[in-house]
Amino acid sequence: MSSAGKPGMLWAAAALLAVAVRCAFVEFPVERADELTMARFKAEYADKLRPVVIRGNDRTRAEAALWSAGDFRDRCGAGEITRYVSDASSSAWGGFDMRGERRVPLASFFGEVERSNRSRDIYGFDYNLKCDCEAFVEQTTILPYFKQDAWPVLIAGMPGTRSQLHVDNSFLPFWLTLLAGRKIFRAVERGHWSPALVDRGVVDRAGQESEIPNFKGSYLGRFLLVVDDDGDAEFALDWYDDAAVLDAVGGADVYSSVLEPGDSVYIPVAALHGGSNVGDAPALAITGNYHDEAHHAILVDVYCEGKVRRLMRQSKKLTRIKAMVKDPSCLFWAGALGDVEPTTDRGPVDAPAPLADVVYPDPWFCRSYGPRAWRRGCNVTRTRCPLEEEGDDDDDDDESDFVVDENRDGVLSRQELSLKFAQVSPRYLEGVPDARLTWGLLARWVAAEVEAIWPAGAARPTAAAIDAAIFARFFFEDGTERPVGDFNPGEL
Ligand SMILES: *[C@@H]1O[C@H](CO)[C@@H](O)[C@H](O)[C@H]1NC(C)=O
Ligand SMILES: *[C@@H]1O[C@H](CO)[C@@H](O)[C@H](O)[C@H]1NC(C)=O
Repeated sequence: MSSAGKPGMLWAAAALLAVAVRCAFVEFPVERADELTMARFKAEYADKLRPVVIRGNDRTRAEAALWSAGDFRDRCGAGEITRYVSDASSSAWGGFDMRGERRVPLASFFGEVERSNRSRDIYGFDYNLKCDCEAFVEQTTILPYFKQDAWPVLIAGMPGTRSQLHVDNSFLPFWLTLLAGRKIFRAVERGHWSPALVDRGVVDRAGQESEIPNFKGSYLGRFLLVVDDDGDAEFALDWYDDAAVLDAVGGADVYSSVLEPGDSVYIPVAALHGGSNVGDAPALAITGNYHDEAHHAILVDVYCEGKVRRLMRQSKKLTRIKAMVKDPSCLFWAGALGDVEPTTDRGPVDAPAPLADVVYPDPWFCRSYGPRAWRRGCNVTRTRCPLEEEGDDDDDDDESDFVVDENRDGVLSRQELSLKFAQVSPRYLEGVPDARLTWGLLARWVAAEVEAIWPAGAARPTAAAIDAAIFARFFFEDGTERPVGDFNPGEL
């Protein structure tokens, strides 16, 4: 970030402060698996944007020991993992050489590790456990804090590899459970990196989004780069070089703890994080980004509101309501996409759950991958997702002129109808003063419109019936549009 626009005095004062205040390395807060309740997890960590290490117990350690790298290779080696090369001089996302990125079968990945010393800088991400290693999923449990939205992937890093600190896409929270090896994990809370680090000349660049098809589990987000004194060059900070961190980072607390097999770490919304693999065997871990009830309001506050402000700064003409509806994730977290899908029974709120019991019955699993997804490489859907009935795929007869079948499952849902209303809402809500234009108001406006077309609990109307109802609500019989003012939210 350039200092050019700042008044000189202010900048000088900031520079002085920056010299005076140095960062400090601090241990993560530590809890024990199965002792931390969901309520306390939310109040102490999720709501306060604080990371926490959750130390393993006999159960989590025993589970971690069940699967070695050799077991994954022999039993689940056909599934693919994204192979990156760790490169300390790279200023690309996470400190990797992205040019070498490719999907390789897990068996080849571990084969390369065994054959070659050059493999010591390879790091694998995003091996899709649900599709490619059902046997592992069936032998593992997931901690209660992460079980509402579990899309776990396997990552495997050779000793010496590291990922430099980054913030995940959409500021989503993240969890990791170590299965083998050792990891130094580091994190900086949102309140400590922004704006403090950004003002010290550390810039945040949007990372490259993961483009793995049919895959919800991977999000690359922002990555911090350090700008040199002249403001010319940007480089990645080595967050595991303590002296370099002390020199470059002012004021922030940098959490640093060592993870052993069976331990987990939780990274809250918008925190910087990364790990360095320090054992003498490959570090294996299962990880996931997720969003759930416990995080929706925070994601709206921190990510969506920040995005709305940024968009409005970039384009003076953009109204608040238009900025609000740009990201469907924000609409979802704000409750503007109507009823969330029927949820799976995930057992008592404070209890860990068998991973297979939370991932496969999740309606999004078969919706995202199946039932014919085995043709696209998700073999487990053959047995896990029922085939649709014969003749159910003549979708063309049931297309709407207004509503888009976003997930291409051949039918329209109330959620898809809600998305359509959210997208057209700027036309009707533009006159509402910004101070009244909260996410709650948007959600209530959408819900009221959807209710008028398709009442909650009513049978699914055909696409033609939905179109007719929308037409009747927004147009006069002669085809002219009803006045926008008729849809003013009033006291909603
Ligand atoms: C999926 O099944 C096919 C056919 O049985 C097999 O060749 C392929 O290796 C399997 N893929 C994975 C990732 O297990
Ligand atoms: C590979 O590394 C091992 C241990 O670090 C070393 O003993 C061996 O000579 C290396 N082999 C090659 C081909 O460099």
